[in-house]
Formats: sequence, structure tokens, C-alpha cells
Amino acid sequence: QMKAVIFDMDGVISNTVHLHYIVNKKVADQLGIAFSQEWNQQLQGLSRRATVEAIVEKAAVALSDKEFDHLCELKNSHYKELINSLTTEDAQPGIRSFIEELKERGIPMVIASASRNANLVLTRLELVDHFHGIVDVTTLKQGKPDPEIFLKAAEIVDVYPSACVAIEDGEAGLKGIMETEMFSVGVGAEPALTKADYYIASTKELTVASLEKALNKHER
Ligand code: G6P
Ligand code: MG
Repeated sequence: QMKAVIFDMDGVISNTVHLHYIVNKKVADQLGIAFSQEWNQQLQGLSRRATVEAIVEKAAVALSDKEFDHLCELKNSHYKELINSLTTEDAQPGIRSFIEELKERGIPMVIASASRNANLVLTRLELVDHFHGIVDVTTLKQGKPDPEIFLKAAEIVDVYPSACVAIEDGEAGLKGIMETEMFSVGVGAEPALTKADYYIASTKELTVASLEKALNKHER
């Protein structure tokens, strides 16, 4: 059953994981430690503060609250500059047609992203109007990997979790989905994503037909 579809944004809808890499690396540079694409992948889905916390922890430096806040601001001001140049070309492959397909079928879509820039990114991609809602991250008690953000997304459209499909490219988010009754879809190269109810390597493989087939197989 697919009564609603819940989307992570970065890496699922927007091709922005490499932009997070640039700004996360800036934070690591400031702290004098190395950063990698792999680590950036592992950090996907964590809030801005949790991301900076993880990098600070690895660097094993003691920062004052002020210094910590400054790093978060540094990360976000650079990120905002980067997303200002996003265009409709920066949607993930196949995602626009998948969203249009869902819209035609009247299946509501909700964004469950840890990003405080979700509205801005979706606006740049000219996709924001397709969504029934975006979970307000400022109301969350816990970020990913807690399932709260996904359950809130289901509440927005008033659909039981068991009738929702939720799509993630990050390990933290997938973990959250898998704690709910939602049908989980993992997309991308991260090895941990193969644990999802339905795993695909690329967003190109996202179609209503492919999802329905996977759902039927799962229910049987
Ligand atoms: C998403 C991304 C993370 C990012 C977080 C916060 O979850 O996957 O890499 O750190 O959002 O984004 P923000 O735009 O609020 O800094
Ligand atoms: Mg993501």
C-alpha cells in the first residue's frame, strides 16, 4: 500500500550531498583534521549541529559554546552561498518524473529532511509546490536516526505509517524509517542502504510501477 510517500531531500531529491561535503570539509579544515567523501556520506541526515559535533568529536578539541556556534554559522553561510546557484538541473536523475507520476495518481508527498534549508532548496529546484508539507525540524525532540521526523511526516498527511513509503539515501534516516511500520526504500551507494525493504542504486529506478512491484513482493 502506498497512500503517501515520504522523502528525504539531500541526495534523494536534490543533488546536494557534494555541497554538504564542501562545507563539512571547511569545518574539518578549521579543526585541522582530514575529511573524506565516505565520512560525508555517513554524516548524511544528521542535523547541522549534530554534524559539527561529530567533526569536533573526531578532532578531539575542546570548543567554547561560542566557538561551536561560530563553526555552525560558518558551515551554513557557505552552504547558503552554494545553494543559491542551484537550478532545476540539480534534481536527482529521474526524480522529477517520479514526483509528477505520484502527483498524477493523487498520492501525497512529504519532506522529512533534517535540513533547515529544505524550503529554499526545493524552491530553487522548482519542486516545492508538489509537496503537501515539509516537517518543521524545529519542533522535533530527536533528529535522525530517531523515527520521529518520519512519524511527523505521516501525521501531516494523516496516513498510517504502515501505508507510507519512505525513501532515504542516508544510513541514519534509513535506521529511523526501519523503526516504523513504513516500507523503506534505500537509494544510493552506501552499503548500509541494502538493508532497506527495497534497495536501488539510483533514483533513476524510482517509478510507481517499480515501487508497487516491490510492495507486492513484500506483502506476499
Ligand atoms: C541533511 C543533510 C545533512 C545536513 C543536514 C542539515 O540531513 O543530509 O548533510 O547536515 O541536512 O542541513 P542544514 O541545511 O540545516 O545545514
Ligand atoms: Mg539524504
